[in-house]
Amino acid sequence: MERKGMLCIFFLLLPLALVSADIPVLNSIKDLRNIEFGHRFPRHGLMLLHFVSGGLFVDNNDALIPMFCPERGDWGFHHFNDYEELFPPLQDQNRQGYYAVGNISTPTAYSLNPYVTRSYYLTPGNLERIMDRVVVRTSPNSPLLEAVYTQHYRGGSEYDPTNTYQISPDLLREIRILSQNWVNSVDVFLYAAGYIVDSRSFTRNCSATDSTYKVEDAGRMTLNESTAIMKGAVVNDHHTECYAVVLKVKSTESGYARLGWANVPDSLLDDGVMLALFNNDGKNLFSLSLDKRSYGTCDTKMCLNHGLQVKLLSKNRADVFMSGPQYDDADRKIPVGIKGYEGKASLQLYTKDGYACARLFINKTFTDWKIHFKHSWVGFYSNHNYSSTCYYTYQYAIHFTKQGDTNEKYDIYSYESSLSIQPGAQARFFLMETYDPILAKTKPWEW
Ligand SMILES: *[C@@H]1O[C@H](CO)[C@@H](O)[C@H](O)[C@H]1NC(C)=O
Ligand SMILES: *[C@@H]1O[C@H](CO)[C@@H](O)[C@H](O)[C@H]1NC(C)=O
Ligand SMILES: *[C@@H]1O[C@H](CO)[C@@H](O)[C@H](O)[C@H]1NC(C)=O
Ligand SMILES: *[C@@H]1O[C@H](CO)[C@@H](O)[C@H](O)[C@H]1NC(C)=O
Ligand SMILES: *[C@@H]1O[C@H](CO)[C@@H](O)[C@H](O)[C@H]1NC(C)=O
Repeated sequence: MERKGMLCIFFLLLPLALVSADIPVLNSIKDLRNIEFGHRFPRHGLMLLHFVSGGLFVDNNDALIPMFCPERGDWGFHHFNDYEELFPPLQDQNRQGYYAVGNISTPTAYSLNPYVTRSYYLTPGNLERIMDRVVVRTSPNSPLLEAVYTQHYRGGSEYDPTNTYQISPDLLREIRILSQNWVNSVDVFLYAAGYIVDSRSFTRNCSATDSTYKVEDAGRMTLNESTAIMKGAVVNDHHTECYAVVLKVKSTESGYARLGWANVPDSLLDDGVMLALFNNDGKNLFSLSLDKRSYGTCDTKMCLNHGLQVKLLSKNRADVFMSGPQYDDADRKIPVGIKGYEGKASLQLYTKDGYACARLFINKTFTDWKIHFKHSWVGFYSNHNYSSTCYYTYQYAIHFTKQGDTNEKYDIYSYESSLSIQPGAQARFFLMETYDPILAKTKPWEW
């Protein structure tokens, strides 16, 4: 009896206590300057916050409208169990949840932009490289988000309640506007948010302003074997401008890995540095001596697969100087919604063993999808410019194969086609056994 009474009091107090769980709110980029979150290399929190904010639209009523879907696992978002009750309790357990992003060692997070993951790959073994998270609370009013938080681990696997902040809609809007108005918005943001540039030891001698961005662009524009030239480090009386090394995997025209590199320092070239390709299990598939080429591309005969990674090795292969980001099998594109079935079904183009494949994400509550999509099919196109009749091959949606149960909210079905993945390739979803209507088109595969 007494026990029951106690419980009642406890439950009455509980909501009060939790509502007053005070998470400080950051309202402007200036507020970010005074906190620890992601401020030193190799922490990646500020980059992560910039990246996630870029995928959010904040309307005039401060509603947060995401272009990504945390429940689907976009960018490695995964369900976050708020066991420690750091965050306000959910109003609707069934239709809401907390989702966290930022654990780069999760294979679904390979789709994060390289500017977010670079410090991680540069600092193997460093615990700080993997501390930061961005957490969102979804709304019962799907697909809206209710709140965005920053989080970090206190080391080990424990979250640090004193370093948890809510990001206000105003701040999200400010970051997004900055992204739209500046080509080098990452660096502008990092500067405004007080990122300690000197902590990026690999650019200690450089004027760090916008160097990273320019390089990636230059790398992409000039990546071809014949234009492999020495890196353009500008030195004048006042400063040395040097550029981050870029290592990446892209697609050849027939489903193989094209390795790209740029800004390899002269000191490494003089030592006879090697470029090497590794698979997801860490097996060395291919290597190449760079001689004096500080940047260029090299087409291999290695099939494109999730997790491929380019590394710079010493001549005797004993030292790894640097690792590039791990290749995302979907070319870092999140799934596209199927028109008329938003929140219920989406389509993604990806590659396995160099072939064009497609995934269907089916909301688990959409139990009668096989009736709706009884006649639906996915066409595979070698070029997004081709008319719908010119598919290379196709498969009916209901004949896609169900994948292992890895997602709480979505069932994933996939099909591996006989088309080689290639730049410009596309998958399209047709409702009926006709070419009209087309309910979804993936973004063309990138060069
Ligand atoms: C990060 O992801 C890896 C791989 O999925 C997992 O083993 C690890 O426990 C995760 N770390 C944390 C702190 O969640
Ligand atoms: C690079 O920085 C270090 C330490 O800050 C300095 O000793 C060295 O002279 C610099 N090198 C160049 C080439 O500027
Ligand atoms: C490489 O780039 C140069 C200059 O941009 C261009 O003239 C040449 O045709 C390209 N080569 C290939 C194989 O694409
Ligand atoms: C799944 O579908 C249900 C019912 O249409 C909807 O309420 C829910 O928000 C959807 N889930 C997601 C993650 O979009
Ligand atoms: C597709 O068409 C556009 C314009 O119609 C053209 O600029 C582009 O180069 C084409 N792409 C391919 C891969 O042929």
